[in-house]
Amino acid sequence: MKIKSNAGSIVNFKCDLLVVNTFEEVKKPGGAAAAVDKKLNSAIVNLIKSGEIRGKLGEVNLIHCQGKIPATQVLVVGLGKSSEFELDKVRVAAAAAVAEAKRIKAKKVATIIHGAGVGGLAVNEAAQALVEGSLIGAYKYRGFVTEKDDSFFALEELSLVELDKRKIKQIKAGIKIGEIISESVNNARDLVNAPANRVTPSYLAARAKKIPGVSVKVIGLAEARKLGMEAYYSVSKGSKEPAKFIIIKYGQGKPEIALIGKGITFDAGGISLKPSRNLWEMKIDMAGAAAVLETMRAISKLKARKNVVGILPCAENMPDGEAQKPGDVVGSLAGKTIEIISTDAEGRMVLADGIAYANRLKVKKIIDVATLTGACISALGDAASGIMGNNQELVDQLVAAGKRSGEKLWQLPLFEEYKEYSKSKIADIRNTSGQGKAGPSIGGLFLQLFAEDTSWAHIDIAGTAFLDKKRGYLSDGATGVMVRTIVELLKS
Ligand code: BES
Ligand code: ZN
Ligand code: ZN
Repeated sequence: MKIKSNAGSIVNFKCDLLVVNTFEEVKKPGGAAAAVDKKLNSAIVNLIKSGEIRGKLGEVNLIHCQGKIPATQVLVVGLGKSSEFELDKVRVAAAAAVAEAKRIKAKKVATIIHGAGVGGLAVNEAAQALVEGSLIGAYKYRGFVTEKDDSFFALEELSLVELDKRKIKQIKAGIKIGEIISESVNNARDLVNAPANRVTPSYLAARAKKIPGVSVKVIGLAEARKLGMEAYYSVSKGSKEPAKFIIIKYGQGKPEIALIGKGITFDAGGISLKPSRNLWEMKIDMAGAAAVLETMRAISKLKARKNVVGILPCAENMPDGEAQKPGDVVGSLAGKTIEIISTDAEGRMVLADGIAYANRLKVKKIIDVATLTGACISALGDAASGIMGNNQELVDQLVAAGKRSGEKLWQLPLFEEYKEYSKSKIADIRNTSGQGKAGPSIGGLFLQLFAEDTSWAHIDIAGTAFLDKKRGYLSDGATGVMVRTIVELLKS
C-alpha cells in the first residue's frame, strides 16, 4: 500500500473510495463530511436521521456517489463519542476503513485525517496514527500455507487529503514515522507468529544482522561460558538448538539505554515440563526479543538521536538428559548464585545475564520486555502489559508513551514483603518462590536484584503478546506489542 499526502478538497478527489467520518450522537456531519454531504444531496444527513449511520467507533457505511463527485463511493466511518475521542480511536477508524476498502476491492482510496479537524489532534500525530491503523490493521499472517488466498486484495494507494496545504509537511513527517513503526510492528508479529522450528536463536541472530544502520555482535555458547553467563546458557542445556546472545548497537558512542528482550524461541518448561494443552503457544516466548529487534530497526530508520543497545538473550527451553534440573544452583554474569526451583522460570534466568551485560556497558537506563509470567495474564488479561521498576520516572514515561501508542501498561508493585518468598538457603536467590503468590512481582523482584542501581523498568507482556481473538485494529495472533511504545519513548 503506497501512502501519499495531497493538498486540496476531498470533494474533488478522484478515487474508488473516499473516507470521511462522523462522531456518535451528531445530527449533522462537520468538516469534510459536510462538504461531501452537500454534493451528495444530504445522503449522509439522511442516513444519520434514519439511524443507519450511528457514528459508533469503527462502524462503516458505504454510499454510492452516482457521478455527483469524482469518487465512486464514499465511506462514512464512525469515530465514537466525541467526549471519548483520542489518538487510538484514529487507528481503530482507519483499520475499519481499510478493511472495508479491501472488502469492496477499492484500489485507490482517499481519506481525511481523522481527528485533525474537529477532534483537535495535532495533524502529524493524527496522520501517524491513521497510517498505523491502516497498515497494522491490514496485516494478515499466512505463514506457510501453500494454497493461494482468494480473499487477498492489496490496496494500491491511500491518499491523506488535507485542505490546508501548510499542513502537508507535518502530514508527510507523520506518514513516514507511521510507516516505519508499522513495518516494525508487523515484522515483529511475523517473528512471533512463525513456528519455533523456523524462528530459532540462530534465525534471530541472522535477522538482527540484516538491520541497516546498526552493529551486531553474537555471543555463542563457548564465549558465554567464558564470560560466566551460566544463568543464561544453562537454560539451553536440554536443547539441540544452539543458544545465541545477540547484541545490537545503534548510534555513535556509548549506549545510554539498554533494551533487553526475552528470546525463548520455545518454552517447553524444561524438566519442570509444561502440560501439553496449548503448548504450541509457547512459540511466542520470544515476543520480547522480537519487539526489541524491531524497535532497533525502527529507531535506526528514524535516525533517533539516542545511543541504544538491544540485548536479546535467546535460547530454547527443553527437557532432556542434559537439561538443568530443579534444585540446581548456577552462577551468573553478575556473580550472584541462583537456586533453580522451577526450570520453567527460565525467562528471568536469561534476562538476569542480559541485564548484567547491560550494566557492564554502563548504560544509564534498562528496559526489559518479556513474556515472563502466566500470573500476569491472570492479573491483567490481554488488555494491558504489566510494568514494574526501580525508577518511577522511567515507569511513568513508559506508561505515558504507551498511552500515546495505544498500548496499555499497568504498574504492579515490587513490595519489600515479597522478597521473603524467594529467599534461598543455598544460593543468593531462588528463581521462583514455589508458592504461586504475586507471580509477576516475584519475577520483577528477581530482575531488580540484577539491575542493581541502574534505572530499570520491566514490562511483562505474557498477556498482550498474543490475542486469541481480533480486537480493534489487531487481528488474532501476535500483536508486536511494545514496539510502538518503546519507539515512541526513544524517537525524539
Ligand atoms: N513463558 C512462560 C510465561 C507465559 C505463560 C507466557 C503463558 C505466555 C503465556 C514463563 O517462562 C513461565 O513458564 N513462567 C512460569 C513462572 C513460574 C514457574 C514461577 C509461570 O508463569 O507459570
Ligand atoms: Zn517457562
Ligand atoms: Zn518462558
